[in-house]
Amino acid sequence: MPAELDIADFAARFLPQLEACLLTQKLSEPYAAPEALAAAMRHGALNGGKRLRPLLVVETAGVFDMPEADAMPAAVAVELVHCFSLVHDDLPAMDDDDLRRGKPTVHKAFDEATAILAGDALHSRAFAILAGDRAHPDPSVRMALVTELAMAAGAGGMAGGQQRDLEGERGGFSNADIAQMQMMKTGALIRAAVRMGALIGGAAPDAMAALTLYGEAAGRAFQLADDILDLTATPEQMGKATHKDDARNKPTLLARIGLDAAQRHLGDHIHRAISALSVFGHEADGLRAIARYFAVRDK
Ligand code: IPE
Ligand code: IPE
Ligand code: MG
Ligand code: MG
Ligand code: MG
Repeated sequence: MPAELDIADFAARFLPQLEACLLTQKLSEPYAAPEALAAAMRHGALNGGKRLRPLLVVETAGVFDMPEADAMPAAVAVELVHCFSLVHDDLPAMDDDDLRRGKPTVHKAFDEATAILAGDALHSRAFAILAGDRAHPDPSVRMALVTELAMAAGAGGMAGGQQRDLEGERGGFSNADIAQMQMMKTGALIRAAVRMGALIGGAAPDAMAALTLYGEAAGRAFQLADDILDLTATPEQMGKATHKDDARNKPTLLARIGLDAAQRHLGDHIHRAISALSVFGHEADGLRAIARYFAVRDK
């Protein structure tokens, strides 16, 4: 089956799981969630996403023969954190975007304060799910999952990378600074998705190390592809504005080295990601297909 088809199938299977955890009733503990906040959370999370991070959780757990259902709560938690990061990334104080996944951004559909709070609440919901019994039967694995996602989302990961991204708009970034920023703002969550799948699968240290290398290379590739698509794709294709990085003076490797060299770098990252999987057999074919998709995706 072509990788793209798998990806669309997974996104369709995943959506009801995400919907179920964002029902107002599920959000209403210990007190009733305000309907506008619940609606804004659903607006930011449901429909349109490619769901690649949850796919990575499930496929990595699958390397260790874990059924998809066993990895689903962790997969949902990772996607909720990703959606929260997008809601905040689009705010006027950050990238100031009006369109996301083909719809008005949350602050456009609601208002800025509601978008900030919806992001906060998506983040909280993720950790409530991860700490719950369904995430893993072993409480020590649940603790490890919580720690992995918390670190990836925090100051040494996504949030820190977003801060570096904003600092970079003011200039003075070396190519190494750009690589660091990409690794943190986008790479950290992709790395965590893979490592969380490995934790669920009970990976031994050498397998965990190999998968971590895969996740890091795939994460670098993903942001590089995002920057390339910002230049080469249309808003209709992407469901979000394009040609934004240049307009906002974002420091990207692409702007430094040009499209051809950036595409070669992308190929190198994919090659590194796939090479890291050489310790695995066919059980890692899904992860290989995802890495290849990262290089050729057109949305
Ligand atoms: C976009 O991520 C933001 C980045 C981290 C580069 P995706 O391209 O995975 O966005 P969705 O989830 O499919 O909308
Ligand atoms: C997004 O990077 C990174 C995070 C949301 C953490 P971008 O700002 O490049 O993502 P898009 O292009 O808006 O999706
Ligand atoms: Mg941004
Ligand atoms: Mg952005
Ligand atoms: Mg971008």
